[in-house]
Amino acid sequence: MAIQRTKEETYSTGGNPLSGNDFDGFGVWQSDTDRQAEIRMKKLKVAVIPGDGIGPEITEAAVAVMQAAAKKFELELSHDSAPAAAAAVDQGLPPLPEHTLKLCTDADAILCGPFGDPRWDNAPPSERPERAKLILRKTFDLYANLRPVKPVAALIEASPLKRDLIEGTDILIVRELTGGLYFSEPRGYGEDDAGKYGVNTMRYHAWEVERIGRIAFEAARLRGKKVHSADKANALESMQLWRETMNKLHDTDFEDITLKHVFVDNCCMQLVSDPKQFDVVVAGNMFGDILSDVGAQLTGSLGMLPSASLGKGTPLFEPVHGSAPDIAGQDKANPLALILTVGMLFTHAAKRPDIGEAIDNAVAKALEKFRTPDIARGNGFEVVGTKAMGEAVLAALEG
Ligand code: IPM
Ligand code: MG
Repeated sequence: MAIQRTKEETYSTGGNPLSGNDFDGFGVWQSDTDRQAEIRMKKLKVAVIPGDGIGPEITEAAVAVMQAAAKKFELELSHDSAPAAAAAVDQGLPPLPEHTLKLCTDADAILCGPFGDPRWDNAPPSERPERAKLILRKTFDLYANLRPVKPVAALIEASPLKRDLIEGTDILIVRELTGGLYFSEPRGYGEDDAGKYGVNTMRYHAWEVERIGRIAFEAARLRGKKVHSADKANALESMQLWRETMNKLHDTDFEDITLKHVFVDNCCMQLVSDPKQFDVVVAGNMFGDILSDVGAQLTGSLGMLPSASLGKGTPLFEPVHGSAPDIAGQDKANPLALILTVGMLFTHAAKRPDIGEAIDNAVAKALEKFRTPDIARGNGFEVVGTKAMGEAVLAALEG
């Protein structure tokens, strides 16, 4: 089915069910402006979903940090846990139980551990427990996924890159999270004359590109004023539309920001060879997923990267890493990504970047002395487990 569009149609945002409502509330991420001070939250209600594999143990560490930070900064915090994914299925519940969804709907923020369990390795995507995460993202229309890639100074030696390449890297990956290859129809399995097949579709409407592009440009305005848009316009129509839409948005509203286009395969390569050239990188759902794993490893470990998913409904905060079932329950997992995720939760959901910063600093301080096994490259520090690392962050925060 070939779809031909005129230029006008391509740029039309008519039909966007969300137009006009979007960007309010999370334009301010890094600076503490008067407006932000005004809307600071005094009370915060958090729905906690520990998730699968290492989820419960890192969640225990992260919740302790969340409580301590709220106490220190005099913010009234309440939180309640509920299961999802394999943890829910094991209790005879669906991957996203009603009760869990209700808890999330009623909360100011969702703190979410990793989902996924190897027992479902051969199951179709629609039956896998991690589907619960995609449903949460879609239900709350959390289209903007922010994944900062900023190595902690004490961890430079744990990066696979040489010090001079990685030092000074500070990237914000903005991943579109509710469209593209993950959600477009048609999808599924079929059979034709050539045999069985599986199919997924990458469709982007201009309004979807525009709203995520706007997030990227606005973020860049508060940072290094540069956006790299990663696409595959040399091979895919959906990505050609992506590029045209980014150009148009840039020319109408963001001429003060430098916009560069980069093919996503080349972007992976450049992230590894010259990460410092990047400020904000924006990409579609699938490409952003891949880029953020590359970016994460630059910081020394996938166990270090937090993320925030923002949009219309309850914002969701989760680490970039998976459930690491091979080390689950052994007190070996790195809780720092989820602890840093708690920092993002305070910054974005409670408009308290000061608390976010205090948590970042406490993590940096803990890393001066301690390492979990995944980041134990180098000398001069003690290798500890999940619990002890969590306690080290707590001590740094309270000290
Ligand atoms: C991520 C994860 C998820 C995704 C999986 C668990 C479905 O890889 O958050 O990066 O692909 O979005
Ligand atoms: Mg991923």
